[in-house]
Parts: sequence; structure tokens; C-alpha cells
Amino acid sequence: MDRDLQDRDSIPAALRHLTHGVYVMGTRRGRQSNAMTASWVMQTSERPPCLAVAVRSDRYTHDITLESETFALSVLREDQVDVATHFADTSGEYHDKLQGVPYGLTPGGSPFLLDCLAYLDCKVIDRARAGDHTLVVGEVTASDTLDESYPLIYDPGEYEGALR
Ligand SMILES: Cc1cc2nc3c(=O)[nH]c(=O)nc-3n(C[C@H](O)[C@H](O)[C@H](O)COP(=O)(O)O)c2cc1C
Repeated sequence: MDRDLQDRDSIPAALRHLTHGVYVMGTRRGRQSNAMTASWVMQTSERPPCLAVAVRSDRYTHDITLESETFALSVLREDQVDVATHFADTSGEYHDKLQGVPYGLTPGGSPFLLDCLAYLDCKVIDRARAGDHTLVVGEVTASDTLDESYPLIYDPGEYEGALR
């Protein structure tokens, strides 16, 4: 096989070896709340505490977050694959994914799951195009730890049927 083609084909396979946690990203615009599963998340600063989330522009969450300039991440527990699947397999454009799910509002007004390890409440301070996703940078303005067990680590094999 052509060497360039072989290298290109190997990139997705190699990327699957990167490790990520699994989070539910909650946003709110006016009285409209939405939440989606996100795993492309990283801390970017300690002082002030900041993090970045890669959000694809066709996600319902994308425009709500950029317009409201606020979002919250709920950190999922290792036994919450079903929760990650729930917030990934439909879009908030068609379905209220938070209906029937116990959630609260952070001091910044974003929805967070009452059943999770911790939440991080964020104010959007920057954004950048990053290929087919937008890197949304948030300063963490509040947080709470709700449980002291282990976080869910992203395993692609667990979400074969889920929309990405
Ligand atoms: C484990 C997992 C992680 C995901 N991580 C991201 C992510 O980091 N960024 C993103 O844009 N979509 C991600 N998705 C896809 C969204 O969760 C999915 O498209 C969701 O339906 C979007 O919801 P919304 O349209 O209500 O915003 C992920 C899906 C799964 C199953």
C-alpha cells in the first residue's frame, strides 16, 4: 500500500489511544435548557482555572453556548455509560433530554446533573475554530463535588450506536 495512504489510515486508529473523560455539557438560553455528552475536554489554565471543550458546530449545544456565554460540565461516574448514551443519542433540537432527569442550575444558570461526581460552572472567555469543531474556552467560576468515586473514562467500544 502507498506509504502516505497507510499513514493517513493509521491516524484515526492512533487517535483512539488518547484518553478522555466523559462529561455532560449543560447550557441554558433564557428558559431553554439543553445538555449533550462531551469527551473532548481539557484543562487549559490553573490561575484562573480554565478548560476547553471541542463542540461541533452542528450540535444544538453549540450556538446556545456561544450566545449565552455560559455552560457547565457534569463529570460522570464510572457506572454512568447509560447517562452518556442518553445525552448523545438524540439532539436537544428535537427532544428535551433533561425531562425526567434530576438536575439543578449552577450559580451561572447552566443545568448540571444532581447524580454525577462534580460540576464545573464556566463562563466563556474565548473560542477558536479547530478543524470541524469549535474550541470553547471557559473560565471555571464555581464548582461542587457531589460524590467521591471514580470518573468514567471514554471507551469508543461502549458507544458504537451513539451519534457523534
Ligand atoms: C462518549 C461521547 C462523547 C462525545 N463527545 C463530544 C464532544 O466532545 N464534542 C461534540 O461536539 N460532540 C460529542 N459527542 C456527540 C454529542 O454528544 C451528540 O452529537 C449529541 O446528540 C449532541 O446533542 P445536541 O444536538 O443536543 O447538542 C459525543 C458523543 C459520545 C457518545
